[in-house]
Amino acid sequence: MARSGAGELANVDKLLITGGTALDGTIDVSGAKNATLPILAATLLASEPVTVSNVPQLKDVATTITLLQSMGVQVTFDEKLNVEVDATAVNNRCAPYELVKTMRASILVLGPLVARFGEADVSLPGGCAIGARPVNLHVQGLQAMGAHVVVENGFIRARADRLQGTHIVFDTVTVTGTENLMMAAVLADGETVLENAAREPEITDLANFLQQMGAKISGAGTSTIRIEGVDSLAGTQYKVLPDRIECGTYLVAAAMTGGRIRLNHAAPENLEAVILKLQEAGALVEYGDDWIALDMQGKRPQAVDIRTSPYPGFPTDMQAQFCAMNAMSSGVGTVTETIFENRFQHVLELQRMGADIQIEGNMAVCRGVEKLTAAPVMATDLRASAGLILAGLAAEGETLVDRIYHVDRGYERIEEKLHQLVAQIKRVPG
Ligand code: EPZ
Repeated sequence: MARSGAGELANVDKLLITGGTALDGTIDVSGAKNATLPILAATLLASEPVTVSNVPQLKDVATTITLLQSMGVQVTFDEKLNVEVDATAVNNRCAPYELVKTMRASILVLGPLVARFGEADVSLPGGCAIGARPVNLHVQGLQAMGAHVVVENGFIRARADRLQGTHIVFDTVTVTGTENLMMAAVLADGETVLENAAREPEITDLANFLQQMGAKISGAGTSTIRIEGVDSLAGTQYKVLPDRIECGTYLVAAAMTGGRIRLNHAAPENLEAVILKLQEAGALVEYGDDWIALDMQGKRPQAVDIRTSPYPGFPTDMQAQFCAMNAMSSGVGTVTETIFENRFQHVLELQRMGADIQIEGNMAVCRGVEKLTAAPVMATDLRASAGLILAGLAAEGETLVDRIYHVDRGYERIEEKLHQLVAQIKRVPG
């Protein structure tokens, strides 16, 4: 068995995809990975047990639960797989390298630990395939709130008697930076204002969860969030919002295969930029309160120009999927990545499938080809793997995607859902 960089036995399964079938059918969207991770971290703030529902069964969620349990948090599941968390007794405030290196989002326990216990030792998350991904803004924010923070030997060591409310202006819009400091502020002394805050729906979901526990937060979803510190947070029950990136990924899969799908348990209001681009590509998109339907009517998509930016702009987590779509669309589409410095690894693999894509700085110029051709390809990160799977669904022949442990981090039961959409895909052992 191969060993991954994480030092653990890597799951070396592959996905074998036979392309050319138009997707057709209905699936349910799962709970959002990028809301579940901060919400589970936020359970550290509660002095009473909480229950979180609609939690997706993903590797990153399992890693977060393992991390919480390593701190002495009691985590159990009820018969409907709702997660019951009791963080009343936390006896260890350390997030070890072994866990953090497998999931950078472990950094999200930093704010809650310092806020509730006055101390945290969190391994410094390294970079990843898509970029250096520094966490300087997380650290600077905590220091601005009065924490004494030392970064040494690969660890962030933070100490504070009680965090003090303050006014923070983020140099860069940061999703987990906004989440970490919002969680730190809910138990601080006084008011904290976060300016140039991220506006992603997952931040609003986290704020709603915190408010249900008794936090005083206003402005979540805007670029200015105000938090009035309280002394403690109570228990609650909370349902995680739908995963907009999972939903968008399946919509693109249907567009690339000329298919027709309906997604239930969706939140169309969180996918406006993506829906507009799919309509520009020629897809018929309809939606209601909690569902989205796309019909490509057997047509080949038109190439579109994409420029990623913080929410409500076009999401960087949908960039690889649209590179794959542009690769087989008619016309030329440009994809400009403004968030991460190295998020075109999927392009190298798409070129192996016959894509005509030239990278010029942070822009990929995609000249659509009539048909991509199947090839063995390798996933490098979560959303790159999604893009390659979509390319395989549209390509002629059998595509083998390697290192699909990246996929399992963010897409719940992906083969099962694709089978429901009549795709020909199966997991083969490595
Ligand atoms: C979150 O990552 C998401 N992860 C990412 O999704 C997503 O791609 C990203 O936001 C952007 O939308 C989770 O929510 C768990 P950032 P995050 O901090 O918070 C720079 C996926 O596929 N920056 O918003 O780590 C950073 O380098 C993942 O589900 C600093 O310079 O991203 C980047 O250029 C991939 N200093 C930019 O800000 C800091 O302290 C945005 O990063 C923090 C960030």
